[in-house]
Amino acid sequence: MAERGYIFACTAKSEKECFDRMLFATGKLYGENVLNVRKGDPLFLFNLDSDTLYGTFRAKSDGARDLVAEAWKGRYPYQVHVQRNGKISSIKGAKKIISALGPSWHDPLPADQALILSKYIENPDAALLDTIERRAENDKPRLSSTTLWDYPRQSYGITPKGSNKYAGVTPAFVIYNMVKRYTEPGDTVLDPMAGSGTTIDVCKEEGRRVVAFDVSPTRPDIKRNDARKLPLDDKSVDMIFIDSPYGDNIDYNDQPANIGKLSAESEEFYEALDTVISECSRVLKPGKVIGWLIGDQWVKKKFTPVGFRIYGQLSNRFETVDIISVVRRSQASNTGIWHNRALRFNFYLRGFKYLFIMRKPLETSNDGKERKVSWARYKR
Ligand SMILES: C[S@@+](CC[C@H](N)C(=O)[O-])C[C@H]1O[C@@H](n2cnc3c(N)ncnc32)[C@H](O)[C@@H]1O
Repeated sequence: MAERGYIFACTAKSEKECFDRMLFATGKLYGENVLNVRKGDPLFLFNLDSDTLYGTFRAKSDGARDLVAEAWKGRYPYQVHVQRNGKISSIKGAKKIISALGPSWHDPLPADQALILSKYIENPDAALLDTIERRAENDKPRLSSTTLWDYPRQSYGITPKGSNKYAGVTPAFVIYNMVKRYTEPGDTVLDPMAGSGTTIDVCKEEGRRVVAFDVSPTRPDIKRNDARKLPLDDKSVDMIFIDSPYGDNIDYNDQPANIGKLSAESEEFYEALDTVISECSRVLKPGKVIGWLIGDQWVKKKFTPVGFRIYGQLSNRFETVDIISVVRRSQASNTGIWHNRALRFNFYLRGFKYLFIMRKPLETSNDGKERKVSWARYKR
């Protein structure tokens, strides 16, 4: 594979140790990028505080965990040994050029872009800035840092994620954020209500294993199954993502077990989803995370707080990590006529869905203390 470039970030405080040790590093969030660094790859160092970009370096080792375990007191365990690639140059005002690379500058730079960036550091020629701009279609979504998640499109990147022709398709960036934050490469992700398979496509691209079911499969990599009885062992999956029906507003299919046929005003609907929650709790490993996407209902002048009810049910079995508001963009009612009606008749269109991020509690030993398990580092 052609050499790829990597930009490592540091701060005023951590920069000295980078140079003293000739070691670049990062924490868990971007750790898997570092594991892909190969000896010889071009590297750059971006000081976020002084807005300075240093280059070019070359990887002296492959990227790995804990090459120097005591460096930065263990805060940045994903590391690579580096060496100078000729004279080290630096440019001030680095944010401007980094922003030209798009929001995902933490991801590997293609070889041609890394070369242009090296040239620019040696000779900051404005004309080069134009050629450095990343093709937007290659971009991964930005990892969300607040509890308001918004992305303009259902999918991202060059390959499709699920099908935007599927009524009720999940925005792929939601699953991307969950996968990146709460799983490691090789982990197993479960989607018990996979629809058009968005979870499968995101997971495959990110190197995660995926198990997907639906009561009415739309493609061969989804197995037919009712989410109320999962054909999986106890404590066998590392993360669950589920975008369940939130009433009978969408006609998914005619399967008798389709929970999307039950009204969110009926107790039957909540009982059905409670059984799904119980199964999810059974198959999830303790300490691991489930993300549940769901919206409220407003039909025939009646509001039903579906999200609050499901959150109550989830809370009976899981601890809350956080509650996210996901902006709804491409829905059928997002038209001028509906916006006018909402104002004229004084009601609101649904503007967001909840993403409940919940964690299965760690098991306790007989003395009531938490058992030490290696993935406790997920606790942040
Ligand atoms: C909101 S859609 C999922 C969308 C999917 N994440 C995607 O991106 O295409 C909800 C799905 O739940 C499925 N479903 C409804 N009841 C089910 C059940 N009892 N077991 C499994 N799947 C069910 C429906 O067939 C539908 O595909």
